[in-house]
Amino acid sequence: MKNIKAIIFDAYGTLFDVNSAAEKCKDKIGDKWEGFANYWRTTQLEYTWLRSLMKRHKDFWQITEDSLDKSMKAFNIDPSMKNELLNLYKILSPFKEVPETLKKLKEKNLKLAILSNGTPSLLNELVKSNDLEGLFDDLFSIEKVGIYKPDSKVYDLPIEKYKIEKNEVAFLSANTWDVSGGGNYGFNSIWVNRNDGIFDNLDYKSQYEIKNLSELIKLI
Ligand code: LAC
Repeated sequence: MKNIKAIIFDAYGTLFDVNSAAEKCKDKIGDKWEGFANYWRTTQLEYTWLRSLMKRHKDFWQITEDSLDKSMKAFNIDPSMKNELLNLYKILSPFKEVPETLKKLKEKNLKLAILSNGTPSLLNELVKSNDLEGLFDDLFSIEKVGIYKPDSKVYDLPIEKYKIEKNEVAFLSANTWDVSGGGNYGFNSIWVNRNDGIFDNLDYKSQYEIKNLSELIKLI
């Protein structure tokens, strides 16, 4: 991969483990915690796409709460757990190789940034609570354009700020639809395929696939 000037990361699911909030409550939720966490995540993403199509924007925190309400009903989770789950979602854990990989990448002369559906305050809190402050040049939030990924206005954000070409960006996501969104836009999209997933049929085939972020060091 040559001529890369910026490495841009998706946040939720790529740097931070979206299942970690429910996992931390697994003693209370029981065996269904993982099914519940996946349902919550899927509903949350569906709400981002549906609200973008309906042109009825709500920020990612409100969507996270709305999707949690539906998911708790679907999985019969005690309503008293709602605040605990939401508070844990604000401080999701990073995947284990993330801090060290970011520190190594920081030594290269490249822009490092997050580009995410999350609100600016959510992204700040995630970075701060996990001691990742100072590693990123920018935390780009879709709130600036008021529409969710994969709208191209979102992927424009780092291009406009850094005044670089689309193919000078390495874009990393574990969300296959986001890899396709960024790839169709013109980024060098890299799929972080941690769980032997199946890729989407959305007009983009990722040239690069890695199992975790530490493999990125060899690619860049
Ligand atoms: C994000 C979602 C897509 O961080 O994971 O933008």
